[in-house]
Amino acid sequence: MLCAMNFCVLGIESSCDETGVAIYSRRDGLLAESLYSQVDLHATYGGVVPELAARDHARRLPELITQTLDQAGLGAADVDAVAYTAGPGLVGALLAGASAAAGLATAWGKPLLAVHHMEAHLLAPFMSEGREPEFPFVALLVSGGHTMLVHCMALGQYRVLGQTLDDAVGEAFDKSASVLGLPYPGGAALAALAEQPGTLPAGLELPRPMTKKRGLDFSFSGLKTAFAVAASKLDLDAPAVRAGLARAFEDAAVETLVRKCTWALQDAGCTRLVIGGGVAANRRLQAALGDALGRIGAVFECPPQKLCTDNGAMIAHLAAIRGAQLAVGPDAAPVYARWSLESIGSDAAGKEHE
Ligand code: KG4
Ligand code: ZN
Repeated sequence: MLCAMNFCVLGIESSCDETGVAIYSRRDGLLAESLYSQVDLHATYGGVVPELAARDHARRLPELITQTLDQAGLGAADVDAVAYTAGPGLVGALLAGASAAAGLATAWGKPLLAVHHMEAHLLAPFMSEGREPEFPFVALLVSGGHTMLVHCMALGQYRVLGQTLDDAVGEAFDKSASVLGLPYPGGAALAALAEQPGTLPAGLELPRPMTKKRGLDFSFSGLKTAFAVAASKLDLDAPAVRAGLARAFEDAAVETLVRKCTWALQDAGCTRLVIGGGVAANRRLQAALGDALGRIGAVFECPPQKLCTDNGAMIAHLAAIRGAQLAVGPDAAPVYARWSLESIGSDAAGKEHE
């Protein structure tokens, strides 16, 4: 039966620049995982090149699948289903994962399960043996591609409370880091620089976008531009100035995120926030959330860093929880470049093929 307590899924992630494969059992938790990051491949271009990403996923997947099965000491007979990220993401990259998953499902005679990448992020914090997701909560998803606040009411029932109107917060971190000459993706390096002793000219304060009026959408392109303009007037060879500027950027981004998380919890009537995506690893964000949420009687939860960023484990985990509800193909393994979280479970609305 699909979705028994020991239901065991091999999951494949390939929506952007991480190739991930993992095996997750509902009863025993994460049994094995392999992850290959394409960061070096794209670093010279300062961002992800879709065509290169797609080819590299296709090249790496066979070896990663074999490696993951070997690591778990499992074979086809032990796996109950094969899952893949069906969207949202880069269409060529998604197709590489979908084809690999459909091939395996057909060869093994197993069900094929299509996972929504953002739903997998939302539920990643609940990934441990026998733990069920605890609803309701608000999730903040912050990565290089997304900035989103979601009210998670029940499995498969999500309401997007707010999202970015332009750049994602991770993208703003990366572009600002690149102004300082830090290599792509520079979010973590900019955060490390912000920890150094720094100084800034009096009066320089970067904007906290869209926080004057209460609202849950974000916009980070203005902050990115304000950062570049400020940087162009300063001596970036002086270590204390670089550190001060990095700190000013981080303060502005963190304060903006924290303020909106507080509003989102109040609007949704929730006392629990879950954070995910690469930027969730930011220490100052975690500390500021701890303080602000403490003041309104709420708490937050963040998965370990390796589960915050893209990985195969969250895909296998979500598929293990939702089982047959996600079944597709295997003759047709659909991918959606755009796929609204709110339309999960419906047939057409909010899905865009490319
Ligand atoms: O979730 P993720 O791996 O997915 C993609 O968007 O591909 O997120 C990566 C993003 C990058 O923008 C990276 O610079 C940012 O997360 N990031 C950070 C930190 N660690 C990673 N941003 C701020 N502070 C950090 N410590
Ligand atoms: Zn992601």
